[in-house]
Amino acid sequence: MPAISLESVTYFYKNAPKPAVSGVTCSFEEGTLYAVIGPSGSGKSTLLSLLAGLDLPTGGDVLLDGVPIRTLDLDRYRRESVSMIFQAFQLFPLLTVTENVAFPLELLGKRSDEAKARARELLESVGIEPDEMRRFPANLSGGQQQRVAIARSLASGAKVILADEPTGNLDVENTRTVMEILKSLASGQDRCVIVVTHDSEVADVADVVYRMTDGVLTRER
Ligand SMILES: Nc1ncnc2c1ncn2[C@@H]1O[C@H](COP(=O)(O)OP(=O)(O)OP(=O)(O)O)[C@@H](O)[C@H]1O
Ligand SMILES: [Mg+2]
Repeated sequence: MPAISLESVTYFYKNAPKPAVSGVTCSFEEGTLYAVIGPSGSGKSTLLSLLAGLDLPTGGDVLLDGVPIRTLDLDRYRRESVSMIFQAFQLFPLLTVTENVAFPLELLGKRSDEAKARARELLESVGIEPDEMRRFPANLSGGQQQRVAIARSLASGAKVILADEPTGNLDVENTRTVMEILKSLASGQDRCVIVVTHDSEVADVADVVYRMTDGVLTRER
């Protein structure tokens, strides 16, 4: 069974003359890295926000393990079932690197010392050094900040990882590192990883590539 799927999903922004997402039916499996490419304004971020449960489709359904998410507790879905990574990292500037990753664990009810210990493990798994863990995010490079954001997205254990232009602010080398990490989350940890990107080299790393055109999703390879 797919981890997450879309069934005839259409989405209209308020007062918009045409849908941003139009009749999309598609399944995303665990253990697979997906790329979604397509021109600016074609609906890629809208599609991700529907998968993330930040908004519900105007028509059709997003299904988690076959269950429409509109029938689930959406707050819980957003906290536990999916996690998001953004182009601008979106780390908390006033928390240390370790605290940034521990925070979602504390929200899930873990004790502070346990949360911090787990945070350090996750940070180590994406190549962040102990000295870097004690800093504030602003005192890391862009590539390091994005790795911290990835570690944070792993904290909840969500099966589905959604990334909107995660390499958009990174140079070639950091782009490669981040994509290797995302690829290993799919192949090594059996997660379902969906990456929106403008970069065809990023898409080359993916197992499956979809293209979004005027709200319509088609499989590219
Ligand atoms: N909050 C909003 N209100 C109204 N229309 C919106 C809103 N956000 C996006 N849109 C419109 O929906 C369409 C799809 O936007 P979306 O952000 O999903 O595109 P995108 O493919 O992610 O583009 P980009 O590559 O530039 O990030 C566009 O026509 C956009 O103008
Ligand atoms: Mg976008």
